[in-house]
Amino acid sequence: MDSILVRGNGPLNGVIPIAGAKNACLALMPATLLSDEPLTLTNAPRLSDIRTMTLLLQSLGAEVTGLQDGKVLAMSSHDLNNLTADYDIVRKMRASFLVLGPLLARAGRAVVSLPGGCAIGARPVDLHLKAMEALGADLDLREGYVHAEAKGGLKGAVIDFPIVSVGATENALMAATLAKGTTEIRNAAREPEIVDLAQCLRKMGAQIEGEGSPTIRIEGVDRLTGATHPVVTDRIELGTYMLAPAICGGEVELLGGRIDLLGRFCEKLDAAGVSVEETERGMKVKRKNGRVSAVDVVTEPFPGFPTDLQAQMMALLATADGVSVLEERIFENRFMHAPELNRMGAQIEVHGGHATVTGVEKLRGARVMATDLRASVSLILAALAAEGETLVGRVYHLDRGYERVEEKLSACGALIERVPSP
Ligand code: EPZ
Repeated sequence: MDSILVRGNGPLNGVIPIAGAKNACLALMPATLLSDEPLTLTNAPRLSDIRTMTLLLQSLGAEVTGLQDGKVLAMSSHDLNNLTADYDIVRKMRASFLVLGPLLARAGRAVVSLPGGCAIGARPVDLHLKAMEALGADLDLREGYVHAEAKGGLKGAVIDFPIVSVGATENALMAATLAKGTTEIRNAAREPEIVDLAQCLRKMGAQIEGEGSPTIRIEGVDRLTGATHPVVTDRIELGTYMLAPAICGGEVELLGGRIDLLGRFCEKLDAAGVSVEETERGMKVKRKNGRVSAVDVVTEPFPGFPTDLQAQMMALLATADGVSVLEERIFENRFMHAPELNRMGAQIEVHGGHATVTGVEKLRGARVMATDLRASVSLILAALAAEGETLVGRVYHLDRGYERVEEKLSACGALIERVPSP
């Protein structure tokens, strides 16, 4: 198990390329199960989660070939020969549950392991199951698996989600493309990953309208064809690296960055005193003047402030001038990075879903431990601005969602390297 060693080294200056979105790719890959023709994804990120999804699809009989060093995923489920998504793979990555809708739609049957718990919250899948039942599937939960069957195929329905769920919207959207009749998904998630999935499904022949709005309408079709589709830019990787010059100083250009992917994140950066300027190639980010100012943050479904950038924003606010309050409204346990930041001299108090951050002039390097994907990169951001050395342990969390972090940050002057854990 590796660790990442970071030495605070002042302002960052340079260029960082942003990869394709992990969370878009993890929904686009199961879409190959909807058709017996090839689906090719370009601009795919090279991440361990993508490799896990590859193994899952291959276990179902799909072919998944990584071309151009993994940036292109050539897939085909022509020879789909297994409808069971095994616990051993699903437990490693919750997004595996996104094969449920496509398998039911394509084959009328699916046996999918229930995903286990997760560090950031219980993360039930009840909304996914309710959506499948609304589309006419019979579900039987036993021995930790969902046994789903849709005799005669799925039928269009109104699916009215009580709360916004990205994954449940994705499962319902994919299932509805081959259901008989019309489906209306109400209170649908509006994230850019949903829009990207709908655009790919439309290239495959699906009839979809309203993606990106709270109501998505789908007219079922008999079959879907193959397609080639570029994975949308990763807005969470983008936001993460925008915070690097914000916390360290300097100016960084983010290739492929798009303001429209960021919702209210940019407003908060602006309020904190960070300027974002669009360029031909993406966007440039730097502090407007010295130390950033405290701002309050509430995480919400898109276009609100993304929960996946909450930990990284906390690292910035730990060094801000003033007191900030962060409210985490999406997950019940997503402040595990706070005690680790406090080991670096931050002053953060957590009470339930609220974290109060009293900014300090300077953080100090320390040994810290990553607890989940976004917490791991929050600690790296803090370490870049801290005095002295920081050793971040359990970086396997990091490799799930960030391609070549050391390389991208070193190119901008950071002193960061991967070292064997002590
Ligand atoms: C997706 O997870 C992302 N993962 C998460 O990113 C992201 O944090 C989350 O959306 C919110 O934006 C992928 O896309 C692979 P939800 P998902 O269903 O779909 C509750 C990362 O760091 N809920 O929108 O699982 C749930 O417990 C990861 O890249 C139910 O109650 O999130 C949560 O409180 C972390 N029942 C809220 O809804 C359900 O059936 C939002 O969850 C489903 C969800």
